[in-house]
Amino acid sequence: MTGPATLGNETQASGDQELLLLASQRMRRLPPYLFERINKAKLALRRRNVDIIDLGMGNPNDPTPGIVVEKLKEAAGLKKNQRYSVSRGIDNLRREYARFYERRFGVRLDPESEIIACLGSKEGFSHLCLAVLGPGDLALTHAPVFPIHLYGPVIAGAETICVPFEEKDEEFLRKLDAFAKRLLPKPKIVVLNFPHNPTGRTVEKDFFREVVRLAKKHSFYVIHDFAYGNTCFDGYRAPSFLEVEGAAEVGVELGTLSKAYNMAGWRIGFAAGNRRMIRLLADIKGYFDYGIFQAVQIAAIMALRECDEDISRQARVYQGRRDVLAGGLRELGFGVDTPRAGMFVWARIPDAYNGMGSMSFSLACLDRARVVVSPGVGFGERGEGRVRIALTENEERLKQALRQLKAAFPVRSDIGGIDSEHTGSNDKSI
Ligand SMILES: Cc1ncc(COP(=O)(O)O)c(C=O)c1O
Repeated sequence: MTGPATLGNETQASGDQELLLLASQRMRRLPPYLFERINKAKLALRRRNVDIIDLGMGNPNDPTPGIVVEKLKEAAGLKKNQRYSVSRGIDNLRREYARFYERRFGVRLDPESEIIACLGSKEGFSHLCLAVLGPGDLALTHAPVFPIHLYGPVIAGAETICVPFEEKDEEFLRKLDAFAKRLLPKPKIVVLNFPHNPTGRTVEKDFFREVVRLAKKHSFYVIHDFAYGNTCFDGYRAPSFLEVEGAAEVGVELGTLSKAYNMAGWRIGFAAGNRRMIRLLADIKGYFDYGIFQAVQIAAIMALRECDEDISRQARVYQGRRDVLAGGLRELGFGVDTPRAGMFVWARIPDAYNGMGSMSFSLACLDRARVVVSPGVGFGERGEGRVRIALTENEERLKQALRQLKAAFPVRSDIGGIDSEHTGSNDKSI
């Protein structure tokens, strides 16, 4: 189990008393942002014009489909699109998203009451947490964990408990059942994410059937983050949570155009499913924002309507990169389960270097190999001993990254423990 209460605090760590006084209670509950150290080191090297291969963030490096960009240009020039739009998304966009769901997943959604557009799925998730959770409430999620799934509820004033992933889905579901039965307060929300970031773990439809059964049994609601639902490999098709009968009675699914359509900078995503949750999200968003730039919404309609082939092609690109990276990492002594979906390889650090801890190892990857990777510990204690490597460079650059890693971390079974000369500290507490 992981709870936020035990974690350190960046604001406190800064030693700036005025900053501390200024910070809200909720800010004080947030731990240091673990990727910050890597980001700072990366920036410092970039300022010195050092060539860095950045495989840290899941930030797509390929272009948005041309047809979408052209539509944006056209729509941006029209005066009617330059005013405030509607907070929950224009009718045509929500209708197009409903068509997309029916076509791809066989799920029928009412665009009026069951779909809302968001400024990316992360914004939708965060505001949904504010709309449904508060002090005294409990959320459950899985570990390792994408940080906002843990801290979205915390920012809303609630507590989050992480249920560790088990080897088999059935064991995880049994644990979820047991936690929901025993915990007080009873969990109000269960946050799930498949295909999962960072592990690449995937599920089948039966998994969601059981989640819906448990949600009804224990009266919790589900938020399923489906950010990588359209980035699947080897013929695997990630099921939508909403495909399961009764799912919309107990939960919502978050989708995004950031990943599959290479539209991360555009900030457009969706929440779909349970009417009450959509209603509450719409209400709170009405206070916070005036909607997404209407030209972006119109271009997003084009993406959803015309770009099925583009997203399949992009998934094949990631599959090719996955093969290069997973195979190459294995040769370097990393432990890798080949992922069936997503934008990452989740790799166990070779035994000879594992004692460094994932943060020191990631800093050493940057320092010695000029390659940015994400430390597993950034996804909670359960991520320790691993690194997450994003498929955000082409195959040639990935091969170059592998060569640089090989030179920096020779495959030697006789290397024991830490090479402190290069790694700096072995500090795992950050
Ligand atoms: C699991 C997961 N959810 C959500 C997001 C954010 O997506 P968006 O750009 O739609 O806010 C990411 C991005 O890294 C992600 O990995």
